[in-house]
Amino acid sequence: MKKILVTGGAGYIGSHTVVELVEAGYEPIIIDNFSNTEERSLQGIADILGREITCHRIDCTDGAALRSVFEKETGIAGVIHFAAYKAVGESVAEPLKYYHNNVGSLVALLQVMEEFKVNKLVFSSSCTVYGIPDKLPVTEQTPVQKANSPYGNTKKICEEILADLATSGSDVHTIALRYFNPIGAHPSAKIGELPLGVPNNLVPFITQTAAGIRKELTIFGNDYDTPDGTCIRDYVHVVDLAKAHVVAIDRLLSDKAEHIEFFNVGTGTGNTVLEAVQAFEQATGEKLNYKIGPRRPGDVPKIYADVTKATEELGFKTTTTLEEAMKSAWDWQMHLQNTIE
Ligand code: WQD
Repeated sequence: MKKILVTGGAGYIGSHTVVELVEAGYEPIIIDNFSNTEERSLQGIADILGREITCHRIDCTDGAALRSVFEKETGIAGVIHFAAYKAVGESVAEPLKYYHNNVGSLVALLQVMEEFKVNKLVFSSSCTVYGIPDKLPVTEQTPVQKANSPYGNTKKICEEILADLATSGSDVHTIALRYFNPIGAHPSAKIGELPLGVPNNLVPFITQTAAGIRKELTIFGNDYDTPDGTCIRDYVHVVDLAKAHVVAIDRLLSDKAEHIEFFNVGTGTGNTVLEAVQAFEQATGEKLNYKIGPRRPGDVPKIYADVTKATEELGFKTTTTLEEAMKSAWDWQMHLQNTIE
């Protein structure tokens, strides 16, 4: 089986991708420093797969530690790089933490990949690189703008590093996947988004409110230029997103990819916050307690993906509905409640 190194593989999207890689016949090797996830996610992966997945507990900014993994794990066919911090608000408060980790880990990884002649990389990017788009839906040709946060800027800088590497004639070939809003959990409810502290993101806040952990959801503004006044996003189920990484690694290993390629990974449909809340209530039968509050600074009013390129060139399309995604998030929340340590 072809070995795929998955940095951040114990995290939210990483753990779901590890499961899909095994289902597709690959042998994933996890690297994670567990700074933003818990050991329990490895157990969840093992429960789903019926076997443990190798995990190296190292920090991706540590070149020597990375080198030791590449020395141990011979025959790595490719790498999927998730390891990064991703909280927009935290990045505004602590920019250097984000530049050091998100940019530093990519540079350290690329240096070791070149040294060991591992030349296939799938990079976890984000629609945040589009900033506030002039036109919707956004295609991959939509101009990449100054991102709204240091977090978003690290993704933009990482994309530029990868483009410069391709131009330099490096053998490393990259597919950068620009995620829209990942939501939900594996249908087994054994892995999902591990909420560390008060959730910044909408869906974990919804499920924690419905579970009685939070008093009520505050919807950040209903005076935007949208059908119901609340912001529009493209909510993509995490398992669909995980499958996109398998398709991308397949493409790289079949040598069909250009030196560097960018793909939007979303559903191609925009939904408002209120529509997301209604989909949750519809899917679970739970009544959600929410109020309308002031806008959140930095929020993009409307963004959703044009997925033509991924459909035509990757042959990839999402299959999970918003309601199904919301139900999976709720099932995961219930699993968390029943297994609180
Ligand atoms: C979605 C919508 C909020 C919470 C960010 C990053 C993106 C990715 C996902 C890492 C917005 C509204 C939210 C709440 C609300 N991060 N909302 N009340 O900001 O679109 O994207 O997280 O990969 O890169 O930019 O996601 O879930 O925070 O917000 O009304 O309590 O829900 O205003 O319109 P966002 P989000």
